[in-house]
Amino acid sequence: MSLIHETDYGTPASKSEQSVTLTIDGSQVTVPAGTSIMRAAMEMGTEIPKLCATDMLDSFGSCRLCLVEIEGRNGTPASCTTPVAPNMVVKTQTSRLKQLRKGVMELYISDHPLDCLTCAANGNCELQTQAGAVGLREVRYGYEGENHLDNQKDLSNPYFAYDPAKCIVCNRCVRACEEVQGTFALTVDGRGFESRISPGQNQPFMDSECVSCGACVQACPTATLIEKNVLEIGQPEHSAVTTCAYCGVGCTFKAEMRGDELVRMVPYKDGKANHGHSCIKGRFAWGYANHKERVLNPMIRKKISDPWQEVSWEEAISYTASEFKRIQAKYGKDSVGGITSSRCTNEETYLVQKLIRAAFGNNNVDTCARVCHSPTGYGLSTTYGTSAGTQDFDSVEDSDVILVIGANPTDAHPVFGSHMKKRLRAGAKLIVIDPRRIDLVRSPHIQADYHLPLKPGTNVAMLDALAHVIVTEGLVNEEFVRERCDWDEFADWARFVSEPRNSPEEVAKLSGVPAEQIRAAARLYATGGNAAIYYGLGVTEHSQGTTTVIAIANLAMATGNIGRRGVGVNPLRGQNNVQGSCDMGSFPHEFTNYRHVSDDKTRKMFEEVWKVPLEKEPGLRIPNMIDAAVDGTFMGLYVQGEDILQSDPDTKHMSAGLAAMECVVVQDLFLNETTHYAHVFLPGSTFLEKDGTFTNAERRVQLIRKVMAPKNGYGDWEITMMLSEALGYKMDYKHPSEIMDEIAATSPGFTNISFKHLDEVGSVQWPCNEKAPEGTPIMHIGQFARGKGKFILTEYVPTDEKTGPRFPLLLTTGRILSQYNVGAQTRRTDNSMWHEEDVLEIHPHDAEQRGVRDRDWVKVQSRTGETTLRAKVTDRVAPGVVYTTFHHPSTQANVVTTDYSDWATNCPEYKVTAVQISTSNGPSDWQEQYRELSEQSRRIAGTVEAAE
Ligand code: SF4
Ligand code: SF4
Ligand code: SF4
Ligand code: FES
Repeated sequence: MSLIHETDYGTPASKSEQSVTLTIDGSQVTVPAGTSIMRAAMEMGTEIPKLCATDMLDSFGSCRLCLVEIEGRNGTPASCTTPVAPNMVVKTQTSRLKQLRKGVMELYISDHPLDCLTCAANGNCELQTQAGAVGLREVRYGYEGENHLDNQKDLSNPYFAYDPAKCIVCNRCVRACEEVQGTFALTVDGRGFESRISPGQNQPFMDSECVSCGACVQACPTATLIEKNVLEIGQPEHSAVTTCAYCGVGCTFKAEMRGDELVRMVPYKDGKANHGHSCIKGRFAWGYANHKERVLNPMIRKKISDPWQEVSWEEAISYTASEFKRIQAKYGKDSVGGITSSRCTNEETYLVQKLIRAAFGNNNVDTCARVCHSPTGYGLSTTYGTSAGTQDFDSVEDSDVILVIGANPTDAHPVFGSHMKKRLRAGAKLIVIDPRRIDLVRSPHIQADYHLPLKPGTNVAMLDALAHVIVTEGLVNEEFVRERCDWDEFADWARFVSEPRNSPEEVAKLSGVPAEQIRAAARLYATGGNAAIYYGLGVTEHSQGTTTVIAIANLAMATGNIGRRGVGVNPLRGQNNVQGSCDMGSFPHEFTNYRHVSDDKTRKMFEEVWKVPLEKEPGLRIPNMIDAAVDGTFMGLYVQGEDILQSDPDTKHMSAGLAAMECVVVQDLFLNETTHYAHVFLPGSTFLEKDGTFTNAERRVQLIRKVMAPKNGYGDWEITMMLSEALGYKMDYKHPSEIMDEIAATSPGFTNISFKHLDEVGSVQWPCNEKAPEGTPIMHIGQFARGKGKFILTEYVPTDEKTGPRFPLLLTTGRILSQYNVGAQTRRTDNSMWHEEDVLEIHPHDAEQRGVRDRDWVKVQSRTGETTLRAKVTDRVAPGVVYTTFHHPSTQANVVTTDYSDWATNCPEYKVTAVQISTSNGPSDWQEQYRELSEQSRRIAGTVEAAE
């Protein structure tokens, strides 16, 4: 493996469809109109010296190194800022240009510490390279003049360092922060020789608005901004392209290694989901892979009160298999089941559901998507015919109106959030429907046109009201509806939404949002041009989650916003492979590609391929498994890569269910909360240690590549295979690519997908088959996957979770940028410096009424349970609403949430819990009890000592 080098063309590619032919250094070149001379030269293989230009950023023209001569024009224009013109004749290498460039370079070098030999960027520094390229041999001014060598370094960020002495003030970092990331955290402070880059108001990076995305570090041509790992380990020497294992954006990275040590993750410019950008998690928060708490040897124990015993892999596997066999012999075939992981690869997920269906002999398989996006699957497949989003991320570049509902892209899907912000800065309109004032509502150079801060639990009423305006004010795209949808169903729906009870005036009473705001937002969505809807768990995690997804689908159909770029319905998926785990047959009623287990043709096909009879009745969902465990009929569970005790609702019920089981097997990187109730722990592998694929929120299937040997000895797919064989059902794959071949052979949407194909093209969006050999960026063009689009009535049914005198406030939950879900990975990195604990956001009015001050401990009490955490008094939340994140197990947010769930899919109603808030002295009894259990469990495993 060598270091992958990506060409820097100096300026971004032009999107023009017209081309221009010109002559550069005697050779003709044809490029799209609008291309810079610099890029045109690069495309024909001529590199013009440059420092301030890079193709991730718009050209700036400050360094004056890229000068060229153009026939018929005076002077020496900068090639990065001068666009090509027809028949232009350009010279890039003349003696005049050489002299000028040398002169510019001399000035830079005279104010630069000449420590190249000991500099961490040695060999990978653009200043050094360009000095060589311009042939600089001496600096006439000497090095004794004024310089910045005494400038203080800023080491406040845990991941990168800033050494102003090396800065050439090329502005690339400032522009990266503005153009790519959209945070505007950097400025150039001072003038002329005094100018230096400054975060915020001349603050250290950690005290500024910087969100540590690293775009500035990547853009810096010198060692001024540099990863601390490079300072410590040295320059990487080989790399492989892989995919981030955090969120559903699916950013592609070059994993850059030195020996078998990972030095840094560099976002890959050719990555179709991220185009060379990343967030703090993907770029920096991978240290958990080497964390000392990672468990590397299998462990077993007869009872959960026993100490863990380290055992060999053979013993762990054979013990697990014998326990599952014993349980099935005693309690029946259906008394065991398993849970697949949205953090694992498609291949691993496919194998776990295969293990359960073929080796356990039942359909008791479910996945963590149950608790996040199961309503998306149900809602979109019913209305459109496909359980997935309709667009690719790049489609947002053609949106005129962006409606974000129940999603917080800048925190939960940061790279797409930056992409969206770029489009918003370029003029797209924005509607945000969210109880909380998320960052998008107001951030540098962005102001939402409408923010509808609705009361949690009123999404359906709000969407019905938007539809009411569209129908009653004659804003329906009738041509689209007549051609593409079932007209009778539309007519029923139109009658329904037109009823006065769905009017903005009525819905204002329920949602707390003024009717005029609702009307104006509806008009903008329907008439503002290409309108796209993006939504997240604030839509799905409700008792009417599926109804809300359907209401969104209705709205897009009624306005004709489906089937082309710039429009669509886009679920922002939480985990890296939540789309994939659903695609791979993780639900108890579906095989891969969402085919029902009762479908004889599909089942027969799998029976032939798997050579085993299969069950035709759907199996148990996670909540049913837990109920059955409490009832004594479900006794064995295999959980791969999920912490159900922390991530699922009603923690007390979940722990009772787990405690009732006779064999709980957890396969993970660390002891998690679920392992308190486990009898077998099988160490898992990280995304750096195996090959496979993830499918992101755009249905994009991308490779992950093994860059180091699994520290635990095996990839997760190998562990499932060993367990299956021990259970008497042999699986025989030599490499994950063979599993993908089986997926492709058995799943119509994946027919053309193979590791070889992905290696060649980078990534594809399913469906990828004979009809769409290169994949499908935009769905439902010309026709819906199900034929006619289906309108369904969406009656608003208030949740049973009601506020009242005892519980007068509504708690809703969400995520923060630096942490990820239950925090198992991010809490084991320096990301914790940004979010050490979950806090409760409360409006100043509600806080004052309860005598709560900022940073006070408060008790959050619901009908289900109580927990304590610190308060953050802020008007980000409306009066009557409180908000928290759920990244820290000590907070136990799910002790408070109820067991209400979506009517169609059982997706829990995390987003609405009636609570009371009062001041408190510290942790609740339950938290104390839990802390003890947690410590005891960790001590048993010896990890407390190791961590200390
Ligand atoms: S790390 Fe990202 S947010 Fe921070 S200054 Fe650099 S570009 Fe801006
Ligand atoms: S910190 Fe780096 S990118 Fe920023 S101005 Fe200085 S040299 Fe250029
Ligand atoms: S946006 Fe998501 S996929 Fe991209 S780097 Fe961040 S966590 Fe990873
Ligand atoms: S690269 Fe063109 S002016 Fe700097």
